[in-house]
Amino acid sequence: MNNKINSTQTVDKTKKQKTYLISTWGCQMNEHDSEKMAGMLDGMGYACTDDIQHTDLIIYNTCLVRENAELKVYGNLGELKALKRDRPDLIIAVSGCMMQKKEIRDIIKEKYSFVDIMFGTHNLHKLPQFIANHNQTSKMIIDVWEEGGEIIEGLPVQRKYGFKAFVNIMYGCNNFCSYCIVPYTRGRERSRNPKDIVNEVIKLSKEGYKEITLLGQNVNSYGKTLENKISFAQLLRMIDKIEGIERIRFMTSHPKDLSEELILSMKECTSVCEHLHLPFQAGSNRILEIMNRKYTKEKYLEHVNKLKKEIPNISITTDIIVGFPGETEEDFEDTLDVVRKVGFHSAFTFLYSVREGTPAEKMENQVSDDVKRKRFQMLLDVLHPINYEANKKYEGKVVEVLVEDTSKNNKKVLSGRTRTNKLVHFEGNKDLIGTLVNVEIIKAKTWTLEGKINEK
Ligand code: SAH
Ligand code: SF4
Ligand code: F3S
Repeated sequence: MNNKINSTQTVDKTKKQKTYLISTWGCQMNEHDSEKMAGMLDGMGYACTDDIQHTDLIIYNTCLVRENAELKVYGNLGELKALKRDRPDLIIAVSGCMMQKKEIRDIIKEKYSFVDIMFGTHNLHKLPQFIANHNQTSKMIIDVWEEGGEIIEGLPVQRKYGFKAFVNIMYGCNNFCSYCIVPYTRGRERSRNPKDIVNEVIKLSKEGYKEITLLGQNVNSYGKTLENKISFAQLLRMIDKIEGIERIRFMTSHPKDLSEELILSMKECTSVCEHLHLPFQAGSNRILEIMNRKYTKEKYLEHVNKLKKEIPNISITTDIIVGFPGETEEDFEDTLDVVRKVGFHSAFTFLYSVREGTPAEKMENQVSDDVKRKRFQMLLDVLHPINYEANKKYEGKVVEVLVEDTSKNNKKVLSGRTRTNKLVHFEGNKDLIGTLVNVEIIKAKTWTLEGKINEK
């Protein structure tokens, strides 16, 4: 969870400027939605705060992808009850993917009746209106759209960083992987007009942004819903031409839509980073089919080989689900086999979580929690030495790092990322935040690299 969004507005207590706090769960799509809400609130004269005890507005921007994300939101909401009792003027809003589900809205209406506003993923642009209506009526406002309408352009955005930015290129998902709730919370796939995307990136470049991350649930199928169809590879080439943007990243790629054209544009576009997040979820062809992923283990490995051939220093990262219904020991072995063969630089690993309303919920042969946990540990035992090996190859090399922050534990230590998305720690002045520096890697760890600034 992350609740820090920088605000241009500073808190002036003499003027009693109103403040807001946004807590965000879930993916980058949600993080960016929170940046848009922050932009609208700044426009209304609110300032950002992390002081939950005294803020005027709390927004929980929620995620529904796994049960634990959902439970955390209920836990946090429970803690707000006393705050609201002591300060009835405090406005509490809940937004995001959980709100797209009627059953959850009903639970909140009943058990957390102190919540003032509920809205969903498709109508967050109405936030100023919701607040105004609530202020006038003091009534609970519930406004959720079942489907996304036309894409709303031009919303103000208050970005968390001044040097790297998220840019939506598409919304929704049409893939309906059988375990996944996202197509139900984010609606059908729709692509933004390439002109709007390019104009946004040009504007960001003029404002000094160096890195952009193009966002979509399945960026490889970008452009299919446009009148004048263009591919994601073509979009990358258009953005690559924009001066001032040093790094282009994108999330997430679906293996079924990964084209040779895309691999080639990644190779040829100088700003596109040598990193690909390519979730494979499971190694067994039988499980992949029941997951409705529409590729095989062999096809996935073929993609990886092509990527490594064309972009030799590429880092490939992934998502893996353990314990999908019906997964046998043999199926799980296939997952381990893919992990061993690819040599992932890192992976997000998940225990399969039953999501109400998805086809996998109805599957009878659910794997027991004990077996899931045992396999999960086995997966980590295989994965971590491989991640370490991938990092070890950086020792002695000089890499370009975009400095992002000071280290959480030691303010004299800076942290940043390589083009291959490796987290690097090194000593340096915090004025370097937002700049590109060369760092010599001294020591590799499983998840991070340690280095020193290379003055040459
Ligand atoms: N659109 C992206 C990511 C969507 S959600 C993609 O297709 O890659 C991020 C990750 O959460 C997925 O890649 C998957 O690994 C995981 N996930 C989704 N539903 C899940 C579930 N029910 N249980 C466990 N993990 C899940
Ligand atoms: Fe979910 Fe699959 Fe769509 Fe990703 S591609 S959001 S995993 S349905
Ligand atoms: Fe979660 Fe919604 Fe993202 S369910 S992962 S916040 S699209």
